[in-house]
Amino acid sequence: MKKQFLILVALTVLANAACQAQKIPGLARTPPMGWNSWNKFQCNVDETIIRAMADAMATNGMKEAGYRYINIDDCWQGQRDAKGFIQADPVKFPSGIKALADYVHSKGLKLGIYSDVGYQTCGSHVASRDHEAQDAQTYAQWGVDYLKYDWCNHDGLEAQAAYTKMRDALYATGRPIVFSLCEWGSNKPWEWAANVGQLWRTTTDIYPGFDSVLDHGSWQQWGVLRIIDAQKPIREAAGPGHWNDPDMLEVGNGMSESEDRAHFSMWCMLAAPLISGNDLANMAPTTLAILDNKEVIAVDQDKLGVEGFPYSTNGNVEVWFKPLAKGDWAMCALNRGKEPQTITFDWKNEKVSDSFSKRNAHFSERTYHLQNLWTKEQAGTTREPLTAQIPGHDVLMLRLKAPWRLF
Ligand code: GLA
Repeated sequence: MKKQFLILVALTVLANAACQAQKIPGLARTPPMGWNSWNKFQCNVDETIIRAMADAMATNGMKEAGYRYINIDDCWQGQRDAKGFIQADPVKFPSGIKALADYVHSKGLKLGIYSDVGYQTCGSHVASRDHEAQDAQTYAQWGVDYLKYDWCNHDGLEAQAAYTKMRDALYATGRPIVFSLCEWGSNKPWEWAANVGQLWRTTTDIYPGFDSVLDHGSWQQWGVLRIIDAQKPIREAAGPGHWNDPDMLEVGNGMSESEDRAHFSMWCMLAAPLISGNDLANMAPTTLAILDNKEVIAVDQDKLGVEGFPYSTNGNVEVWFKPLAKGDWAMCALNRGKEPQTITFDWKNEKVSDSFSKRNAHFSERTYHLQNLWTKEQAGTTREPLTAQIPGHDVLMLRLKAPWRLF
């Protein structure tokens, strides 16, 4: 009897723990899309800039293309008040975050904010340690929709426990707040974060370089190719509601147009969150044309939610495939070199299959129609071999339309 009672108690405890151990369901079924202040403005962020970015996104076509989140990164914080409630910096955000959230919401967009597991953020501002529940409540009351949670000054905290603590605090508010883990892949979040947040950073910070690394001595920032390579072993961790995050976009921040196009295309092949990081109020039409390409975005946002994979390498050109819903595929030939390179791809001899998603292209039996996603032209079918010249640091990106989708 006593034994049965103990088992019952143990089961009740476990069931309660299982009930609490949840993240908010239904969020980010496709990779989140938006903008974040860090890559362009770093700590020079204020409410005028945030409003201007919301105005731009709401009117320049980005909102129609699916971008939603306007995310304030580090350096928005002031001090805690006498009761411990975090305040926005009164000089940079004199109207307060609630008013800003109301403004962003009035444009049909959502507001994101930033904090850190430690006592201080990476930029040495007040962070959430020992105030997790209070901060989550504050964000919810302000109307915040997204939290990026950084890993500086963690002082040896256990990562999964530290992030789970904030997840539970967000859950307790009842507000659907997307939770973005930012611990740079240090503790392999792809192995444990699917039930903690909607996305997790997989590497150190990006910077607007293509095939290079920026060495700061004690830490590095990585260019586009280095980040892409780090995603190859972890694609199976991602799926609807839980995404690998290879960091925010650097489109429009100084790389060449072809490098920006290659960067954006590959983030879409990786089903990456598309968080733009440039000055949306002052960008070249060529930059907007990249960020706004609906056909390329559709590859990222595809409902199947499966990351692409590298299939073959020919010289400097790496050919990637991504299975899409309803039998389609995306193909992206990435020229990692500086010189143009011509590739020939004879479909009927290629065996493209993906054991993870259990998909096989069966090129020898099926004819797919090809659409070039950057020129928007029809590009023949998989019945004829494809020959194309790919400029240096650029891509050829195609959608392969399954035969049964043509009728
Ligand atoms: C870390 C993050 C960046 C940015 C800065 C802010 O470096 O990885 O994305 O949030 O902190 O200080």
